[in-house]
Amino acid sequence: MLDGKKIVLGVTGGIAVYKAVEIASRLRKLGADVHVIMTRAAKEFVTELTFREITGNPVSSDMFAPVAHYNVEHIALANLADVMLIAPATANVIAKIAHGVADDMLTTTALATVAPIFFAPSMNSNMLSNVATQENIKTLTSRGLHLIEPASGHLACGTSGKGRLPEPCEIVSVIDSFFNEGKSLSGKNVLVTAAGTREPIDPVRYIGNRSSGRMGYALAGEAVSRGASVVLVSGPSSLEAPEGLKEFIKVETAGEMRAAVMSRFRDADIVIKAAAVADYRAKVIAENKIKKNAEEWTLSLEKNPDILKELGEKKRGNQILVGFAAETQNLIENAKAKLEKKNLDFIVANDVTKPNAGFNTETNLIKILSRDGGVEEFPLMKKSDLAKKIFERIEKVMEK
Ligand SMILES: Cc1cc2nc3c(=O)[nH]c(=O)nc-3n(C[C@H](O)[C@H](O)[C@H](O)COP(=O)(O)O)c2cc1C
Repeated sequence: MLDGKKIVLGVTGGIAVYKAVEIASRLRKLGADVHVIMTRAAKEFVTELTFREITGNPVSSDMFAPVAHYNVEHIALANLADVMLIAPATANVIAKIAHGVADDMLTTTALATVAPIFFAPSMNSNMLSNVATQENIKTLTSRGLHLIEPASGHLACGTSGKGRLPEPCEIVSVIDSFFNEGKSLSGKNVLVTAAGTREPIDPVRYIGNRSSGRMGYALAGEAVSRGASVVLVSGPSSLEAPEGLKEFIKVETAGEMRAAVMSRFRDADIVIKAAAVADYRAKVIAENKIKKNAEEWTLSLEKNPDILKELGEKKRGNQILVGFAAETQNLIENAKAKLEKKNLDFIVANDVTKPNAGFNTETNLIKILSRDGGVEEFPLMKKSDLAKKIFERIEKVMEK
């Protein structure tokens, strides 16, 4: 998604510098060619070696070091950049760039480049609210530099307030959106749920299911590649989260999944519920491991919240809601009933008894049922290809 994009990552001496390592890693995983420039202060926190190994490129910091390679020369880096990202951006570096100071490799490159510059201020909240810093930030944004707003929360200095560096995935998502604007889902918020939930019985046992999360993860990845801002809420899964997500939330139980989904539903344009949410949970969760003393064990279950139904009831006219029906019998009838009952735009039905389809497989065999009664059948396909088909259908619904 950032294939071949040249990103100059400016790293300054703030306490959040460790997050820059993850930013560099995520950008590279998205295919970007990342060139890091560190300030002297940044090197007090993290070594050049870390960034060199993560990016596969030499790290620049000393402007007067002998030039070993063309792309460590200061003007060359400024020319090479498709984008310059400064994260974290200290109060000091913001002040210097605002005043045209160019006394090290980072500030010189910032002054010399004509590429768009993104900067993510990160500092103690008093430093941030200081009039000097505020005016410097204003100066930069008025000149067209892109501000990545600091987040609020606990700060390393022991206080809490505004000044935190946003999570690496959020920063990478800003860069990704910048390059991918104009794509079919740019500007759209997509919420995907994936994998099965686990409902605890005692501290060591749970009720679970065979869902691996593959379909949901493929859908989230496809939404990212179409330029959407994507939140993935996932039950336990061994899969790696797709790159470029705005948020990746790991949950265990249906209750946790419901909370994560409901709090984000209002902002979502498209919601795809690919998770296999447990219908029932243990009525009582034993505090200690249940011993196998009795010959029989009866477990009392109670119903879990029906997240999809609740979403269907709350859905606004312009939101698209897609559900999945994994069935072992009466596929079409059961899926049709679910489509109606849950007020979905369409439903993806799969017969999980078929070989290489359904849970824990790379492929799936699906039918898409729409509100007008139409049923579209697909041959056995890779889940990543089916994700494309599902989004083609979503985009068709959007056009209506
Ligand atoms: C432990 C420690 C943490 C610091 N954290 C921050 C920070 O989060 N944000 C900031 O603006 N300055 C922070 N500073 C101060 C900067 O390191 C200092 O202003 C330095 O001159 C910045 O240089 P640079 O902008 O060239 O990287 C911190 C200093 C220390 C010693």
